[in-house]
Amino acid sequence: MMKNQAAARPFQVRPFEQFRAGFPALRRQTYLSICDKMILHDRVRRGVEDFLDHLALASANRVDHEVKVVGARQKFARLMNAEASTIAAVRNVSDGINAVAWAMPMTEGDNVVVCADAEHPNNVYPWLRLKRRGNEVRIVPPRPDGAPHVEAMIEAVDGRTRIVSCASVTFAPGHRTDIARLGEACRARGVFLLVDGVQSAGILAHDFAAEPIDGFATSTSKGLLGLYGFGFLYVSPKWIDRLEPAYLSRPAVHMRCDDHSTMGGHDYELQPDSRRFELGSYNLAGAYAADVSLGLLLDLGTRAIEERVLPLARALNEGLAALGLASAVPSEGPSQSHIVTFGALDAGGHGFSSDPMIAPISERLMDAGIAHTIRRGQLRFAFHAYNNEDDVERVVRCVGEAIKRL
Ligand SMILES: Cc1ncc(COP(=O)(O)O)c(C=O)c1O
Repeated sequence: MMKNQAAARPFQVRPFEQFRAGFPALRRQTYLSICDKMILHDRVRRGVEDFLDHLALASANRVDHEVKVVGARQKFARLMNAEASTIAAVRNVSDGINAVAWAMPMTEGDNVVVCADAEHPNNVYPWLRLKRRGNEVRIVPPRPDGAPHVEAMIEAVDGRTRIVSCASVTFAPGHRTDIARLGEACRARGVFLLVDGVQSAGILAHDFAAEPIDGFATSTSKGLLGLYGFGFLYVSPKWIDRLEPAYLSRPAVHMRCDDHSTMGGHDYELQPDSRRFELGSYNLAGAYAADVSLGLLLDLGTRAIEERVLPLARALNEGLAALGLASAVPSEGPSQSHIVTFGALDAGGHGFSSDPMIAPISERLMDAGIAHTIRRGQLRFAFHAYNNEDDVERVVRCVGEAIKRL
């Protein structure tokens, strides 16, 4: 098995502090909202500006631009320890999930398993849509703490199950899923495990050569630190020949040349690899951004990033616990992630909560320039490689002050 060099780099503080210095947003605020959206590093912004300059001056052609798509694909593959040919450049998570949903050979009565109440809506609606095709959607209830119920999902799998879909880390409360356990069970039954990886990609270490993942959909708009509207779909080579994309255009057709306007015969052949899921013109601004941001993440290494963020999340959990606030995600063990949430789950929704503690604390955090979010009624913080111990201290101090005023 290939060793994941990108993941393996050991953690050292200095490169992380240098990385932090590249984000203008961090000069004005403490940013704990990567679970919502990215912030741009100066070098990523310059990458996008290069693209705009080329457009303004008509100084590059399509093939020059697409070098960045190739670069971004290769870098994402290195980050995840996969071959570049297993990666398709797509628009976002929804694009990747829908592509797999409609490419999987399924007949009436076949089913998919999903723990809908633990998932982002974009990993639920694509499955509900399959009911039109006569497929069953097996919705498994989550664990009492709101995490995907891996054991119940495995129990729901039967001889007609074709796909199990699950987030690597849920958007709220933010538990990390035991993908190894779920994936091994899927493999043993010949079922495709599709992972919505947007909350973990770029922040927690992945290794597709070792993890039992068949498909992984992400966008670059969060931890991969790129733009909206550009993302990746990984599909294991073990499955690729069985998957027939629902949509087709030139990039997905195998013609042994990259010229987009060349038309081969009408008896076309699909790309032999994951490029069969690519459609039409690329989001080139997104590719320019990702080519730079993925390079920055590779320099740090995802293992080192994980080793950086998990202790920060633990320290925040402990600081909040000392103030009497119980965290929804444990600060130790396999469910721990870089996300910290507290407050009653589902006591509200996107940006609001009926939990009497949440609104005043959130207001105080906003006044102090601490970026955070409220999801499913819980207050939510998330760490990335640019965060440090000072950020944790600021949040704990600010929450402590808000509690004193209650
Ligand atoms: C777990 C998860 N999946 C999907 C999405 C968004 O999906 P898309 O990239 O299709 O907009 C989010 C955004 O918050 C998310 O947290």
